[in-house]
Amino acid sequence: MKKFAIAVDGPAGSGKSTVAKAVAKKLGIIYVDTGAMYRAVAYFCIQKGVSTLDEKGVLPLLTEIRLEIQPQRGGQRIFLDGEDITDSIRTQEIGQGASHVGTIQSVRQKLGDMQREMAKNYSVIMDGRDIGTYVLPEAEVKIYMDAGADERARRRMGELKAKGEKPVFEMVREEIIKRDENDMNRKCRPLRKAEDAVYLDTTAMSIDEVVEEILEITKIRIGEV
Ligand code: DC
Repeated sequence: MKKFAIAVDGPAGSGKSTVAKAVAKKLGIIYVDTGAMYRAVAYFCIQKGVSTLDEKGVLPLLTEIRLEIQPQRGGQRIFLDGEDITDSIRTQEIGQGASHVGTIQSVRQKLGDMQREMAKNYSVIMDGRDIGTYVLPEAEVKIYMDAGADERARRRMGELKAKGEKPVFEMVREEIIKRDENDMNRKCRPLRKAEDAVYLDTTAMSIDEVVEEILEITKIRIGEV
């Protein structure tokens, strides 16, 4: 089977990673969570006592940071200086920080290069904000996954509760909306639907339905998989 790429973009909490992981498992291809890479940069900044809003402070850290991405069956682990930080970066604070460092051009350049490199030799499904538009513009399949803000906040609440946290709906909703505004309005490679992406409004769809839809679109675009 010829190598292919599936790009999945969309706003925070739209369920991209859950769906992309499931599709990767079904197709036996590599899943790349690019949000985790922006989160890792934010985590590193916070560790070093540098504000994620301080571009001048963040830039020198980019030459220091040692990131390693390990694709695993149905998932991905991310390491910073050899330490597995996959679970520690899943907080609201780091999500917001990731959105801030994502506005810095050199950060996008560095992470974008790493992401393209990962898709060079293997079939991948990659999720993020600028995958179909910038990182993998030649991707055979492009999906823009959306859902209403209330539904996205509900999904995020479920994830946080599953981790034993006690989230407040209004705060979760507000954080998601703030992050979307920042991601859609930044100058450098903002979140946009690629012209040739399929728009999926998943508000009333289950995870399984979205997975099936993406598998169907993939089959149409690249033949039997
Ligand atoms: O997908 P996520 O929620 O883990 O992403 C966290 C933040 O990282 C997101 O709000 C913006 C930034 N990001 C980005 O700018 N570009 C990407 N391709 C992925 C994430």
